[in-house]
Amino acid sequence: MKTTISEVKHHVGQEVTIGTWLANKRSSGKIRFLELRDGTGFIQGVVLKNEVSEEDWEKAGELTQESSLEVTGVVREDKRAPSGFELTVTSIDIIQIAHDYPITPKEHGVEFLMDHRHLWLRSSRQHAILCIRNQIIKATYDFFNDHGFIKIDPPILTGSSAEGTTDLFHTKYFDRDAYLSQSGQLYMEAAAMAFGKVFSFGPAFRAEKSKTRRHLIEFWMIEPEMAFCDHEENLHIQEAYVTYFVQQVLNNCQAELKVLGRDTSKLEKIKTPFPRISYDQAIEFLKEQGFDDIDWGDDFGSPHETAIAEHFDVPVFVTEYPTKVKAFYMKPVPGREEVVLCADLLAPEGYGEIIGGSQRIDDLELMKERYKEYHLTDPSYRWYLELRQYGSVPHSGFGLGLERAVAWICGLDHIRESIPFPRLLNRIYP
Ligand code: 4AD
Ligand code: MG
Repeated sequence: MKTTISEVKHHVGQEVTIGTWLANKRSSGKIRFLELRDGTGFIQGVVLKNEVSEEDWEKAGELTQESSLEVTGVVREDKRAPSGFELTVTSIDIIQIAHDYPITPKEHGVEFLMDHRHLWLRSSRQHAILCIRNQIIKATYDFFNDHGFIKIDPPILTGSSAEGTTDLFHTKYFDRDAYLSQSGQLYMEAAAMAFGKVFSFGPAFRAEKSKTRRHLIEFWMIEPEMAFCDHEENLHIQEAYVTYFVQQVLNNCQAELKVLGRDTSKLEKIKTPFPRISYDQAIEFLKEQGFDDIDWGDDFGSPHETAIAEHFDVPVFVTEYPTKVKAFYMKPVPGREEVVLCADLLAPEGYGEIIGGSQRIDDLELMKERYKEYHLTDPSYRWYLELRQYGSVPHSGFGLGLERAVAWICGLDHIRESIPFPRLLNRIYP
């Protein structure tokens, strides 16, 4: 019977056939141990010289790392095996012998591994990370669908910028200019006025010349947007969402977290409500901590974010930033025009900002003023103003950077491992 490694638990004592690759191999006298993988998991195949044909014994000897094969064997329960099961091999069908697979069990440098990302994905560590990424994506769809959101897909090619013009990717759109989307937010605001509660999940592009362990050039963002929703309600939905996907990963990805050696106690203690600190308080706190390189009105750098996050050790909202350091569309705090109704959610353990969100300006006149201040004269911005003209309502939303979240949940040193094929300042290969 044909099956997969993840399904062998249903076939204990039976003979099954699985399409696999050889991850590793050991021999000891009359036994050959094949570490096999099939994409759904890893399992050890045991080949006993006295129990297989001479031909199959020879085939097992011939197998090299990453050779592909169909293996047939009897499933045995084995408490000591990482998967809990083992395969007593009865026959082997070699599909292809792989010669000189470049990634060997020895240590390789990061650049070498990145050059071989198309193969590196096969390793147990990368496999675990991307399975956790998938779990977060699944939890995202489940959470927002269960909370009455509908998924709306904003365009990738746009005529205008959503988050400022400094890091836009320019392209030609026939004889016109266009940009790759930095954020679908402006379009999601239009969608919220049509559907109430919406969310998107798609790629975002930032031509940032930053070479940090938190920045990708192309990343994936989840952007919910809600009509009739204020700043306070916006924070509630964010903490509920983050807590939900953390819980889902803990419930469903224990094996993967173990492969990564993740200390899960840090994740287990995450629960709502999240602590909050205003930007004003954060500046005071940083000064107390001895940071003399920051003053009211400056944006935080990553050392500042890390200091704040470390103090709380769980995700923390930093609220009400200065109007000047944030995007043009954020609603000012009533009676305090110099700060806006926004929050960044900082992840613990030094992972930095994972969410940026805000209540949006809903007043037509104020938005017109902002258009003047920010020189948003291009006709491609006209439609966004019209959202404030026809039935404008208080509304809020946020964007979660998926890879930042994955890096945090998995405890990665660098964001490059959180996405299948990272686009970095100096890398668009493979
Ligand atoms: O804070 P940002 O720029 O906010 C927006 O784009 C809003 N329009 C979102 C909204 O309100 N709908 O980006 C949101 C999140 C950040 O908190 C971060 O997690 C992630 O996107 N992000 C990046 N992730 C990886 N590489 C980069 N270069 C990133 N830039 C932002
Ligand atoms: Mg931000």
